[in-house]
Amino acid sequence: MVNDRNILLCVSGGIAAYKACALTSKLVQAGANVRVAMTQSAEQFVGKATFQALSRNPVYTDVFKEHDPTKIAHIDIPDASDLIVVAPATANMIAKLANGIADDFITTSILAATCPVIVSPAMNVNMLDHPATRRNIETLKSFGYQIIEPGVGNLACGWIGGGRLPEPEDLLRIIESQFVPKHLLGKRVLVTAGPTVERIDPVRFLSNDSSGKMGVALAEAARDMGADVTLVHGPLQIPVPAGVTAIPVESSADMLETMLARFDAQHLVIKSAAVADYRPKTVHAEKHKKVHGPLTIELEETTDILKTLGMRKTTQTLVGFAAETEHLETHARAKLEKKRVDYLVANDVSTPGVGFGADENEVTLFRADGSSTRLPRQTKRQLAIELLTHFKEGIQ
Ligand SMILES: Cc1cc2nc3c(=O)[nH]c(=O)nc-3n(C[C@H](O)[C@H](O)[C@H](O)COP(=O)(O)O)c2cc1C
Repeated sequence: MVNDRNILLCVSGGIAAYKACALTSKLVQAGANVRVAMTQSAEQFVGKATFQALSRNPVYTDVFKEHDPTKIAHIDIPDASDLIVVAPATANMIAKLANGIADDFITTSILAATCPVIVSPAMNVNMLDHPATRRNIETLKSFGYQIIEPGVGNLACGWIGGGRLPEPEDLLRIIESQFVPKHLLGKRVLVTAGPTVERIDPVRFLSNDSSGKMGVALAEAARDMGADVTLVHGPLQIPVPAGVTAIPVESSADMLETMLARFDAQHLVIKSAAVADYRPKTVHAEKHKKVHGPLTIELEETTDILKTLGMRKTTQTLVGFAAETEHLETHARAKLEKKRVDYLVANDVSTPGVGFGADENEVTLFRADGSSTRLPRQTKRQLAIELLTHFKEGIQ
């Protein structure tokens, strides 16, 4: 997503400047061409040499120190940038940007920039809550700058509250999302993720190994592509992404009910949850006591959610997932037809390093028209964007 993108990272003088080093490293590893600009105060916290080594580019600190005399860097660098990120943005930096002050490399460059600007404030909670800072942040929003709401937690100054710079990996995701094409603007997308939990008694249940990572990646990618996203999920091993409407459920029956209530209003419905095929016939109201000898739990079939939605669909594009350990194509094609789905994403969960719990996946996408596309091994986030780019073709 950030591969070959030119990113100007502006570092101002806050204690969180150290996190900008890790961010630079992550951006470079992801293929971005990173230029770092620093204020004089920022140099009190982190050395210029660190950013120079991490970005493998000159670091800009002074409008009058030209690295290339044939160019004017504070115009040339923002002109060549696809995105400017100010992280951390001090209260002082935000105040200067809000008032069009241009007295150092960063402020002058941003005034000269025409590309999108992201500002990530980081400061003491009282500085952040001061009406002057709040007003200045609102002014930056009115310029069209994207403000990353600071996190809440323990601050370096000893206070607990808002003002934390997000972690570098979270900043990276926000930066990456800028470059995701907005193919799903105005579309409503419903995604299911995670396992279901089928109770035996109040303390025991039947479930499965699904981590929810693929469904969460799809919800996140659909959000980044501009969709209005609802995520119906069982217990997840990862946090629910910000900016999506999350509805936690437990059993397959809960999931079915929640889906049916929302299905008709959707443009695209992706069933990536690992829903139980069977549940205990009897759910004990009290903890089941130990019995001597073997215990048999009778199971009954759950309602097939994908099939139910397939029978109900009108204009919705319906996507199912199939986790198989053998005869992938045969099973996938049978499922596609039987359940009236438009796309079936099949993954071989017996392949090491992909599928359940993994950060990567490789899948084959089967379409109702009989065609298929193999999507090679990649991160679930990249795969989610690629899958949604295919699904958007089928949306009515
Ligand atoms: C130890 C220390 C930590 C600081 N941390 C922050 C901070 O997190 N956020 C902030 O807005 N200012 C912070 N400041 C104050 C700024 O460094 C100061 O306002 C400075 O003028 C900012 O300059 P700049 O915006 O040009 O980088 C800190 C100062 C010191 C001495």
